[in-house]
Amino acid sequence: MRRSFVAGNWKMNGTSDSVQTLLSGIKSGAGAIEGVDIAVCPAFVHIGLAAQALAGSNVAWGGQNLCDEAGPGAFTGEVSVGMLLDLGCRYVIVGHSERRTLYGESDELVAAKFVLAEQTGLTPILCVGELLEEREAGVTEEVIDRQLNAVFAQEGGLAALNNAVIAYEPVWAIGTGLTATPEQAQAVHAFIRERLADRNETMAAGIRILYGGSVKSSNAGEIFAQPDIDGGLIGGASLQADEFLKICEAGAV
Ligand code: 13P
Repeated sequence: MRRSFVAGNWKMNGTSDSVQTLLSGIKSGAGAIEGVDIAVCPAFVHIGLAAQALAGSNVAWGGQNLCDEAGPGAFTGEVSVGMLLDLGCRYVIVGHSERRTLYGESDELVAAKFVLAEQTGLTPILCVGELLEEREAGVTEEVIDRQLNAVFAQEGGLAALNNAVIAYEPVWAIGTGLTATPEQAQAVHAFIRERLADRNETMAAGIRILYGGSVKSSNAGEIFAQPDIDGGLIGGASLQADEFLKICEAGAV
């Protein structure tokens, strides 16, 4: 039985003050929620605040990205896996669609980051998902295959999947208020799990596959009830403590 997981991706939001308020709200409510793993991924500059606020709580924290070079070294503007570990991060998101589409991250670069993160002790959350035009063209499965194949092709990629999380985030559902129906999401999650099972059945049965894209407390329950959906990666709704906690409750079993 896979344990549910709900993670907040705070993206480029917050000030020191608002982040501290959000962290303390989440921490105080999360203590009473059992049966689900919970994490938040603030912007890099706020991870230290998360580490201070959440130490000793049942809420873990992580980064939204990392450098593909282990470093340390001359990589201006980048953040290394060691820096994330130093701040107590347990997770790191890799290959979020905003990184892929706005910053040109290739499948290969994402795969390299994925393996580096896992081999260095973080649990990577690998995001995959199709654009609206790809769904409309009927090539959703080809896109997901391509994104997964880059990980399989990366040295250490298959092994890294044993200690990783996948997030299926249809790009057309991110921040748009459009949510995949539970059936649409389930179909892609099942496809992902099948593709993983082609490589390693035990890994495929154990890996958690989260859904992301306009999840709210009002739709989380029916989405998380799908057999291959093991929780969610939450954007906008994770920026309000009460709303995020309700989504975490929907994931609790
Ligand atoms: P929204 O929940 O705001 O649609 O964002 C989803 C997402 O991109 C999480 O990584």
